[in-house]
Amino acid sequence: MEIILDTANLEDIRRYNDIYDITGITSNPTILAKEKAEFFPLLLEIRSIIGEKQLHVQVTGSTCEEMLKEAEALTDRLGKDTYIKVPANEEGIKTMKVLKSRGNRVTATAIYMPQQAMLAASVGADYVAPYFNRMNNMNVDSKKAIGDMAWLFEHNQIQTKIVAASFKNTQQVMDALMAGAQAVTASPELYTQMVENPMIDSAIAGFAADWEATYGDKRIYEL
Ligand code: G3P
Repeated sequence: MEIILDTANLEDIRRYNDIYDITGITSNPTILAKEKAEFFPLLLEIRSIIGEKQLHVQVTGSTCEEMLKEAEALTDRLGKDTYIKVPANEEGIKTMKVLKSRGNRVTATAIYMPQQAMLAASVGADYVAPYFNRMNNMNVDSKKAIGDMAWLFEHNQIQTKIVAASFKNTQQVMDALMAGAQAVTASPELYTQMVENPMIDSAIAGFAADWEATYGDKRIYEL
C-alpha cells in the first residue's frame, strides 16, 4: 500500500514527509499554480525535501510532440526517475507509448473509466490515476470502476499500479484501497482527518486524566 501526497505546498510536504512514510508527491497544473511560485525552483525544492521518493509532474501540452518536449525538460531538470503524468486521451496514450519506449516513468492521469486505464496499461504506464470523487460526480460507481481495473490488471499479469486520486473525504480513500488500488494520493488535510478527531482526543484525554490521578505529573521514564 502506497501513501502519496497530492500537493506542492512546501510547508505541508516537509511536515507530512516527517510524520508519514510517504511514497512520494503527485502534482498537477492546478496544484502547482496554487503555490504561485516559479515552476522549476518549486519542483527542485520538493525534490530536495523528498530525496529519492517519487515525484509525479504533469505535462500541459495537447499534442504528443509538445508533451514529449515537456517530458524531456522535466527529466532533464528533475531527474530521469520523475514520473511524467500524461492525461489518458488518444494523444496522451501515444505520448505514453513513446515515453515508455525511452525508458521514462509514466503516470496516466485524468482517468474516469476502466477503458482508459486498460489502454494506458497496454502501452506500459507505471501508474493509472482514477479520479474517485470526480467519477462519483458523474454518477460513475468509482469503487466498481477501480475494482474492474484491479481485476483486469491482475488477470492479465499487468504490472501497472492503480493510484487513486481526487478525494473529498476519508471514506473515499478507504473505498479506493478496498476496491484494489495499490496507492492513494490525497491532500494533506485528508490524512490529518484520518487520525485527528474529537473522539481520538477524548480517548487520549481520558487516559491522561487516569494516569495523572495515580502518578501525578510523573512520566514513565521517571518511575
Ligand atoms: O491530481 C489529480 C486529482 O487529485 C484531482 O483532484 O480534487 O481536483 O478532483 P480534484
